[in-house]
Amino acid sequence: MQKSEFLWGSATASYQCEGAWNLDGKGVGEWDVFSHESPLNINGATGDVSCDFYHHYQEDIQMLKAGGQNSYRFSLSWCRILPEGRGRVNEEGIAFYNRVIDCCLENGVVPNVTLFHYDLPQALAAQSGWANREIVEAFAEYAEVCFKAFGDRVKLWVTINEPKYYAYCSNIVGNYPPNHKLDFDRYFKTLYHEALASAKAVAVYRKLHQDGRIGIVHDSSNVEVAPQTKHPQRIRMIADLFYNKLILDCAIKGELPGALLPWLNENGIDTSYVRFEDSLTLAEGKVDFLGLNVYNRFYITDYSEGETEVFHNNRGAGSAAKEGIRIKNWYETTIDPSTKRNLWGREIYPRCMLNTLREIRERYGDIDIYITENGHGCYETPDENGVVQDDERIEMMQGYIDYMFRAMEEGCPVRGYYAWSTMDLYSWVNGYEKRYGLVRVDFEDNCRRIPKKSYGWYKQLIEDFQK
Ligand code: BG6
Repeated sequence: MQKSEFLWGSATASYQCEGAWNLDGKGVGEWDVFSHESPLNINGATGDVSCDFYHHYQEDIQMLKAGGQNSYRFSLSWCRILPEGRGRVNEEGIAFYNRVIDCCLENGVVPNVTLFHYDLPQALAAQSGWANREIVEAFAEYAEVCFKAFGDRVKLWVTINEPKYYAYCSNIVGNYPPNHKLDFDRYFKTLYHEALASAKAVAVYRKLHQDGRIGIVHDSSNVEVAPQTKHPQRIRMIADLFYNKLILDCAIKGELPGALLPWLNENGIDTSYVRFEDSLTLAEGKVDFLGLNVYNRFYITDYSEGETEVFHNNRGAGSAAKEGIRIKNWYETTIDPSTKRNLWGREIYPRCMLNTLREIRERYGDIDIYITENGHGCYETPDENGVVQDDERIEMMQGYIDYMFRAMEEGCPVRGYYAWSTMDLYSWVNGYEKRYGLVRVDFEDNCRRIPKKSYGWYKQLIEDFQK
């Protein structure tokens, strides 16, 4: 691969940035209902307006280009395209995404488009969402509408963003709708349906012969076992099955991990929905590439006494809540005293970039990889000129990118890197205080965009790489 072919970009997701929640025929999404009505929306923030990408997309794409970036990763809102989740197509939704895609191409920016990034149409959520097998067909239909509408210009597709993290927050942590807590049956069922839906969408894409590439995005969940753990191999195997293997084996090898069903059955977890013919669906739906969102690792140790519990911090500095999980007889996440954490309790661990890339290569061979997200969330105050001097973000991202370069030197086929996020936007349940953007959004002043220091740093890094 030529250096000029490497994709350097940044990423957003529809619900987190578009706003325009009820404009131009958009249907209602599960997150609209949750953010408007649920007492569990603890910060009270919604994506109703967010940074109003719906009306600012030209400015955002032009700014991305001016920052030296040659690709933009974004997602489509399922209910903007199919307001009821299935059936009727909203032509105004199609027209909006046509404008966004055309604007990318006019600016020499490669669109990298995700079909599903957490925002399920409410009509489908009301019928048990991802826990209902019907979703698999519904997703394949939606994918076909998108491929036919945009596939002449979009050549890089992602089926689902972070199937695992979405299933985890919706069914184990309970902070994402439909807010089930420690529901292990529903977690695995959701993951399984996501794996099948992704495979079906890949098969639909192949059938249409659109001459592009299609992949899936996994939130990299590299497992490391703390010293003094009594059963390191056993708990590593369990944590890998829990976090990684279902999605990765299905998407890359086209099959369920061999150890999965016996292990679920042994643990009394429902598998009655698994059908023989699903193996054919998975075999026909292998991806062309893997996207990895790289933020942290899972640092674990034994846990045999005590109850199963989960902790999450959606309030940041204002909260004493921890981050982690304890699963009786499996393992618990623990703290490595030598590393730092952000104010939401997440470990900052750049080396997980290298460890993840090495591990994927060892397990799955030379599948092409895009780092589809990497970034740093923090509280920010602009200086007297209105500019955010986000040295902390720069230092952190540079660390992860250096490890990415090291993996590439070892031969790991990384084809692109996307910063999360293009500009400040809604952070799921955390609201607007936790910022990730390379560009600041002044939510109090008509969503005015002001590049941060990291925007210029990223531009320089890209230029240096391309020399
Ligand atoms: C990723 C998601 O998991 O992490 C993004 O794909 C998300 O949508 C990002 O915003 C950061 O997470 P959070 O919860 O800190 O906003």
